[in-house]
Amino acid sequence: MVKRISGRKADELREMTAKVGVIPNADGSAIFSFGETIAIAAVYGPRQLHPQHMQDPSSGILRVNYDLLSFSVSDRKRPGPSRRSREISKVTEMALKPVVDISEFPNTVVDVQIYIIQADAGTRTAGINAASMALAHAGIPMKGLISSFAIGKIDKDLIVDVDKYEEDYKEGEGATDFPIAKISGTENYTLLQLDGKMQPELVKKSLDMADKACEEIYEIQKSALKEIINGDGEK
Ligand code: CDP
Repeated sequence: MVKRISGRKADELREMTAKVGVIPNADGSAIFSFGETIAIAAVYGPRQLHPQHMQDPSSGILRVNYDLLSFSVSDRKRPGPSRRSREISKVTEMALKPVVDISEFPNTVVDVQIYIIQADAGTRTAGINAASMALAHAGIPMKGLISSFAIGKIDKDLIVDVDKYEEDYKEGEGATDFPIAKISGTENYTLLQLDGKMQPELVKKSLDMADKACEEIYEIQKSALKEIINGDGEK
């Protein structure tokens, strides 16, 4: 059995917290954490898209912006977009798009802003979880929630929800980071982004492990959303 520094079992996620309605001025917002990794997401829209030539008369457009805050990492992160933040914004957009139905809102944009307050690996997946809840909170028509986490590997053992220490583990076959996003209650994946090496049979096993992990994440997301519905009805 694989031994993890944190004492977690191979298939054990870090402690999760989730809260909806954390930014009153946004149309929808949420905060989601995996252990020391904390992501906050705010949704604005649907609102008219400018410049006009970017508008789609047949549908609304989903636009995602992800970034790390300067103080979220141990070395101060230089403010402003980077190649990494552009890539993560793009894959997050692709991970969320399949469940978002904004065809009834032509010429508009739904802006999703994701900021990482504290980073300890798995920031794109925590961001996707927060954004998915924030979109639901904003009342954007959705076919389901997206639940996401990353699988890693210690030698030949798969581990769920890698922290930074585990992600940096480079002995044996080198570091492996396999972020996965799944549509709740389905077998449909919206993100599979393997960084490192993994044998085909381990990819299959990773997807099996993702079933349980995504189900656990989904439960946390659902109860955070229910809390706001059952609360004072405030958005
Ligand atoms: O965060 P995620 O695992 O989705 O993406 P990554 O690019 O694989 O980054 C892994 C981790 O490296 C982040 O979660 C941060 O903890 C750390 N990192 C950092 O310390 N400074 C950066 N400029 C970027 C990432």
